[in-house]
Amino acid sequence: MPIFVREGNAIKEKIDSMPGIFRYSPDKELDKEIEEISNAGINAVLLFGLPNTKDALGSEAYNPDGVVQQAVRRIKSIREDMIVACDVCMCEYTDHGHCGILSVRGEVENDKTIEQLGRIAVSQAMAGADIVAPSAMMDNQVAAIRKALDLNGFGSLPIMSYSSKFASAFYGPFREAAGSTPKFGDRYSYQMDPRNLREALRETKLDVEQGADILMVKPALSYLDVLSALRREFTLPVAAYNVSGEYSMIKAASINGWIDEERIVDEILNSIRRAGADIIITYFAKEYLTRTAKRNKKDQKL
Ligand code: PBG
Repeated sequence: MPIFVREGNAIKEKIDSMPGIFRYSPDKELDKEIEEISNAGINAVLLFGLPNTKDALGSEAYNPDGVVQQAVRRIKSIREDMIVACDVCMCEYTDHGHCGILSVRGEVENDKTIEQLGRIAVSQAMAGADIVAPSAMMDNQVAAIRKALDLNGFGSLPIMSYSSKFASAFYGPFREAAGSTPKFGDRYSYQMDPRNLREALRETKLDVEQGADILMVKPALSYLDVLSALRREFTLPVAAYNVSGEYSMIKAASINGWIDEERIVDEILNSIRRAGADIIITYFAKEYLTRTAKRNKKDQKL
């Protein structure tokens, strides 16, 4: 289950573009949500942070006292067995909203960025993260992060790599949720071309060679063919990210009474599983599991 954490106190803030999803401050508000999702049967979360200050280098992302680092410590202190994965990226932390460091010409500087990603991953590991999940789509980012982790005593910390992340319009609601819309341009120079399956396989192979432990396809629904290709071609666990736009479309139609949300979510999650996902990252997780638990109880009574 993805969770948005926002710097501050006593915050539980609605996200307009994602009905049912909130931003939490890393205090009692976050505790309550963690208790709830844990009681629903979710054993892992993926954290995204919203800092109070942003700069050109995204330096809040590796502040030992940054919002994500605080959240990791908080979650671990109340539910030690909750698996905490952290998004490793810069777009929520840079004042320009791009996923890396920019040159004077406004282009993302790949090699400077991957050093920065290494620093971010190490600071998350030091806070107690169980998994780091790089989503910046820079070349050689997995190798750089692996090296940084190894050098800092985190040789066994796994990397869940967004190995095939497409430049997709389905991230729209997330960018509102995380305040990470690029101020200019787009992400086409680093994210992948949605039309290209073979590039996805090439990029994934590179991540495997660099030491990725879990692979990922993102978004999920328009890319189920990519998911099943990854399942066939590689032996590592494969995660699928059922992204914000895929969530919000269902919610919008459901709020209007146009669809049967429960049945649709059931079908969607099963289609992702059928295509080969070992792990599903979805904003529906809490509602879905709460519902299925109730249904199972009812079935047992019959
Ligand atoms: C950060 C990041 C994004 C998402 C996950 N990590 C946004 C983006 O690439 O613009 C999107 C997740 C979602 O839409 O649910 N780079």
